[in-house]
Amino acid sequence: MSTQNRWKIYNPSSDLRILVTKMLPGQIWIDLLINAGLRVEVNTSEELTPKRILLKKIGNNCMGVIGQLTETWDAELFKALKKAGGKVYCNYAVGVDNVDLNAATEYQIAVGNTPGILTETTAEMALALTLACARRIVESDQYLRADQFKGWLPGLFLGERLKGKTLGIIGTGRIGLKYAKMMSYGFKVNLIYYSRRKNEELENSIVRFNYLLKENNENPISIKKSDSLKELLIKADIVSLHVPLNNETNHLIQTEHLSIMKDTAILINTSRGAVIHEAALAEHCAKNKNFKAGLDVFENEPVVNDKLKKLKNVTLTPHIASATRWTREAMAKIAALNISGIINEFPFWDKEDVEPFLEKGSPRAVPSIINKQVLDRFYD
Ligand code: NAP
Ligand code: GLV
Ligand code: GLV
Repeated sequence: MSTQNRWKIYNPSSDLRILVTKMLPGQIWIDLLINAGLRVEVNTSEELTPKRILLKKIGNNCMGVIGQLTETWDAELFKALKKAGGKVYCNYAVGVDNVDLNAATEYQIAVGNTPGILTETTAEMALALTLACARRIVESDQYLRADQFKGWLPGLFLGERLKGKTLGIIGTGRIGLKYAKMMSYGFKVNLIYYSRRKNEELENSIVRFNYLLKENNENPISIKKSDSLKELLIKADIVSLHVPLNNETNHLIQTEHLSIMKDTAILINTSRGAVIHEAALAEHCAKNKNFKAGLDVFENEPVVNDKLKKLKNVTLTPHIASATRWTREAMAKIAALNISGIINEFPFWDKEDVEPFLEKGSPRAVPSIINKQVLDRFYD
């Protein structure tokens, strides 16, 4: 059956129509949208939804859309949404690199996203990939399943101990900060970070952690902000990327950057694939067998560089860093509240933390609109 034919319609008697371009986990989001009096059309197909289908489904009556990071929301789509009476688009993600924010603003479409509630989940995945690389988990699992395990050996699958290593964090926003704390508190790694601003919260938390280490007669750990990406790459044993994808961060890591990293370095990417030049990374990993990469995101998803797929020193996951049940259901609720809040003309939420919206009787506000500054006269 084609994608076009797999749309499920909830509350068909309403003509306040919205689209949800993929089925979302849980029940709360759909109940919320139905209770807001909306007719909800959900694409139940797992295939990517092409632009021509999106345009066709928007048609001439559509108030809003919950869309996916696999879709490119450009000027043509926002123009069509505006023409159909649309007011709001919500990306079911925190990253909005697939959304033309300027075009949405030009057409007076509010753009929402789902920040914060995926912070721990994504940081935990970066941590999982770090351990998988350091301790060669996937490679050794495959070895065992292939019946190659002939008994304990002193030199079998030697990996890297994390304690005392230097961790380089590129982008210490919500996720980078959380991952840095998990790694430093848990494994006592030293930190070096590359960010545009000094991260007071991170620096202060390490000062406090060092008091605790001192009380326990353990060595303190260090933290350094670096203004030089090069310095971080040279010094770090582990490098983890947590920047959004934009013009500045596209191909931030290329051959010249990989070549100055340690031979035994671990590179983790849970941000966006195009932050790394994927072909250059594949070349580098093929030539440097002790170098390891743990990747959740890829430059041309769902296509993944063939060379990468063949390498034992690379661990790959299919863009699942935010995939815990709690997070994905919370993202669905925030997305639904972004849509219903705009349609009900609720005020914008003025705090960073959207978790109050996950409780019963959530605030009467729109949780997370990105272009609200330029939409100040939106409800006039
Ligand atoms: P965030 O809180 O906005 O953090 C992003 C950080 O990157 C900010 O600290 C920002 O610095 C920094 N940054 C931006 N451009 C930079 C540059 N050119 N050089 C250095 N630092 C730069 O975002 P988040 O919630 O942590 O999410 C980060 C990204 O992770 C998202 O945009 C998304 O693409 C990705 N993500 C992926 C998954 C997944 O499933 N794999 C899940 C969730 C998120 P300033 O503070 O100076 O602006
Ligand atoms: C996932 O990749 C997100 O940006 O939420
Ligand atoms: C290993 O299993 C050990 O006991 O050292």
